[in-house]
Amino acid sequence: MADSGISPADARALFRQHVRSESLYRHCLATAVIMGDLARTMNEESPETWESAGMLHDLDMELIGEDHSKHGILAGKMLDGLLPKPFIHAIVAHNGQLNGAVRTSALDYLLSAAESVTGLISATALIYPDRKLEPVEAASVVKRMGKSGFARNVDRARIIECTLAGFCTDDFVELALKAMKRIAPELGI
Ligand SMILES: [Fe+2]
Repeated sequence: MADSGISPADARALFRQHVRSESLYRHCLATAVIMGDLARTMNEESPETWESAGMLHDLDMELIGEDHSKHGILAGKMLDGLLPKPFIHAIVAHNGQLNGAVRTSALDYLLSAAESVTGLISATALIYPDRKLEPVEAASVVKRMGKSGFARNVDRARIIECTLAGFCTDDFVELALKAMKRIAPELGI
């Protein structure tokens, strides 16, 4: 293994070995592309590792059964040796609310924020007549953050954690939306 860990292409293949859900694949693909762009924006050394971590953060989802406190912890074990330790920690801690891990690094905050914002962006696309990402503007996604009845399952506080990593929420949403638009056909929206 190189120091930077598993490549994005291998991460996608590994994901497919453990997860059947197509919607979960798309959610993780969206998270991956956002993570890669965040890393490039911050001039991180290995954006591809950020991408792989985004792709693999829900690797254990179909293996944990009913006990959601295992989510993240099991993925971390499955990925031991395949990703550098800070990335493993970010994957465990993205479910910190249920498994007790604490998010402390920019990487931790951004993985949690990125995977959360994908839900809000996708839900916003679905209100447009053709249900596509193309006409969606960042401002309309941000506006819907304040509407608690919209996409209720998306935890706004986790999106706002991007500010702990030095992003303003508007810029973060705009970056995430641009990243998802780039792979819209693969995301099916
Ligand atoms: Fe996720």
